[in-house]
Amino acid sequence: MADPVLSLDDARLTLDGNAGPVEILRGITLDVGRGETVGLVGPSGSGKSSLLMLMGGLERATGGTVTALGRDLTAMGEDALARFRRNHMGVVFQSFHLIPTMTALENVATPLELAGADDAFDRARAELEAVGLGPRTGHYPAQLSGGEQQRVALARAAAPRPEILLADEPTGNLDGPTGETIMDLLFGLNARHGATLILVTHAPDLAARCSRTVRLEDGRIAGGDVARAAE
Ligand SMILES: Nc1ncnc2c1ncn2[C@@H]1O[C@H](COP(=O)(O)OP(=O)(O)OP(=O)(O)O)[C@@H](O)[C@H]1O
Ligand SMILES: [Mg+2]
Repeated sequence: MADPVLSLDDARLTLDGNAGPVEILRGITLDVGRGETVGLVGPSGSGKSSLLMLMGGLERATGGTVTALGRDLTAMGEDALARFRRNHMGVVFQSFHLIPTMTALENVATPLELAGADDAFDRARAELEAVGLGPRTGHYPAQLSGGEQQRVALARAAAPRPEILLADEPTGNLDGPTGETIMDLLFGLNARHGATLILVTHAPDLAARCSRTVRLEDGRIAGGDVARAAE
């Protein structure tokens, strides 16, 4: 692949469990090209969220390498990683990770302010409107439903227009029509801004809209149309 934005070479993740080390990712080799949309699928516990964390530099690989935009994430310190993420990546976690003491608007505006935007709050308001939460901007996370929190998390990740957007089950808590809106928003980021998308999903319709799927089983790539990875 000519210009991979993400490149994993035999990436491994072994964590210490109560009963000894647990091999969570067992050698993942994968290239993702600029502007690709990749659906990460596979059964519960197969390692999808863990793989997303490695790609985002939120977990450090215990073996192999993870390269993003030409930078070896496995060799970067915590501060450099945090800065790299802030400048290049958006991440939507499976459990949202909203800041409980901030309103929806403040949650979305924060990364824009950190990036130095002087219109952070206007842009944050527009992002929340785009996910259908215009009337909820002043609510705290505890005052929002699960699906609403998910949409705030997505607005927050999308607002700085990251080159790489990693999202863990972005439509997992949403009804059909709201899920459609969110999918359109995600694929719009790809179409309009060239964002590379990595989406963990159990939803066949979301996976089908991706340019390819990668299937994990028991910490390994087990299929999907990974043949394209070798292009
Ligand atoms: N901190 C940890 N310590 C030990 N094992 C862990 C830890 N975090 C995750 N695991 C294990 O790693 C495996 C992969 O977990 P992961 O969350 O990546 O799965 P997943 O594919 O995202 O599943 P789901 O579809 O249910 O979200 C699971 O068996 C899980 O129990
Ligand atoms: Mg998961």
